[in-house]
Amino acid sequence: MNILILGSGGREHALSWMIAKSDLCDQLFIAPGNAGTFKDGININIKPDDFEEIKSVVLRHRIELVVVGPEDPIVKGIYDYFKSTQELKDVLILAPSAWGAKLEGSKEFAKQFMEKHHIPTAAYASFTSNQHAEARAYLKKQLVPIVIKADGLAAGKGVTVAFKREEAEQAVDDLFLHNKFGHAGSKLVIEEYLEGIELSVFALTDGEQYILLPEAKDYKQIGEGNTGPNTGGMGSVSPVPFADEIFMNKVKARILDPTIEGLKKEKTDYKGFVFIGLMNVKEEPYVIEYNVRLGDPETEAILPRIDEDFLPCLIEAAKGELKGRQLKIKNQYSAAVMLVSGGYPADYEKNKEIFGLDKVENSSIFFAGAKLEGNKTLTCGGRVLAVNSLADTLELALDNCYSNAAKITFDKMYFRKDLGKDLIDY
Ligand code: AMP
Ligand code: GLY
Repeated sequence: MNILILGSGGREHALSWMIAKSDLCDQLFIAPGNAGTFKDGININIKPDDFEEIKSVVLRHRIELVVVGPEDPIVKGIYDYFKSTQELKDVLILAPSAWGAKLEGSKEFAKQFMEKHHIPTAAYASFTSNQHAEARAYLKKQLVPIVIKADGLAAGKGVTVAFKREEAEQAVDDLFLHNKFGHAGSKLVIEEYLEGIELSVFALTDGEQYILLPEAKDYKQIGEGNTGPNTGGMGSVSPVPFADEIFMNKVKARILDPTIEGLKKEKTDYKGFVFIGLMNVKEEPYVIEYNVRLGDPETEAILPRIDEDFLPCLIEAAKGELKGRQLKIKNQYSAAVMLVSGGYPADYEKNKEIFGLDKVENSSIFFAGAKLEGNKTLTCGGRVLAVNSLADTLELALDNCYSNAAKITFDKMYFRKDLGKDLIDY
């Protein structure tokens, strides 16, 4: 079957690497793809949320399955576009409907969904931009730390964890008075602060059944020791030692089962990934956020652990015929270390040549913000590439990543050197 992957990050390179290996895949296209995906298939330079362009690519290349990587096209309704377009309605597309995508596209919607379906999450209140005074009055009655969240998509930057009251007030003002996130900040959620350790949990579902994928831990902050501003993610590891059978059984029974059951009750079409960002609070799981796609850089650590052809599962899910089962998972640790452009997540320079890629051994490279120009590989984004290694221990996997990261250079390259250390001693 001919397959199209939408997106251009490390997640999409990991997906193309995995899908290209499958006997079921004939031609693989990635739109727009990057310096890595072109080795697995054909890059097509269109935007992943330009639905008309996607339609012509699907028809021209007789695509039978579309795998959607990032959230933007999903939240903008790519699934509904396919289903309501005569020539596309029979093409398989792995993405939830726009209604299901509100789990990620609106924090308030996600909170209401969790409340309705009795899924554990932090206590909250939500406000619209004409309720500035009410939001400030509500804040006055709360303890700090407290969390302020822009309702809509804000590229991972819409959340403020305020340790001082003034920071919380500033966050509310930024959204409602200074319009910091435009429409995404026209509503906000004020949420109880949960103290614990975070975990990313992934399931593939057809809206009825689901398959649990390996879990991962993401390192969001730019600085070592989890300091500085949040990024898209500086690296990830899988498995996560505290996500043992007892903990994961709680996650399934209290979060995943009622989430899938809830989607079913709401009669929404949900064929795709459910990514639950959760907090382990004294061994009890609470949902921090839903995402309707795979995580990045979690994907670069979890897909290499899957020890079978995963493409049949993607096809079954998109068809609505997923057979709930346990995936075969390698009994190994996987780590992904992101190499980023100096200055990221604020301003950074691009077009720096990347050297040393040919010296990498015992690791896979998943490209993100990297492009090819002639025979050179150049940076073109904040997160440039992920170095992934598998090994029998977490220490060894990380050592491999770091010894290969040391062979790669580009001007002002930066990466965190403390990934996984918190888990090694957990
Ligand atoms: P989100 O975009 O909702 O994942 O939030 C970004 C980050 O803010 C999360 O990864 C957490 O580190 C933090 N965060 C969000 N909500 C809470 C909460 N209720 N309590 C503590 N930290 C939170
Ligand atoms: N790594 C977190 C995310 O993809 O949202």
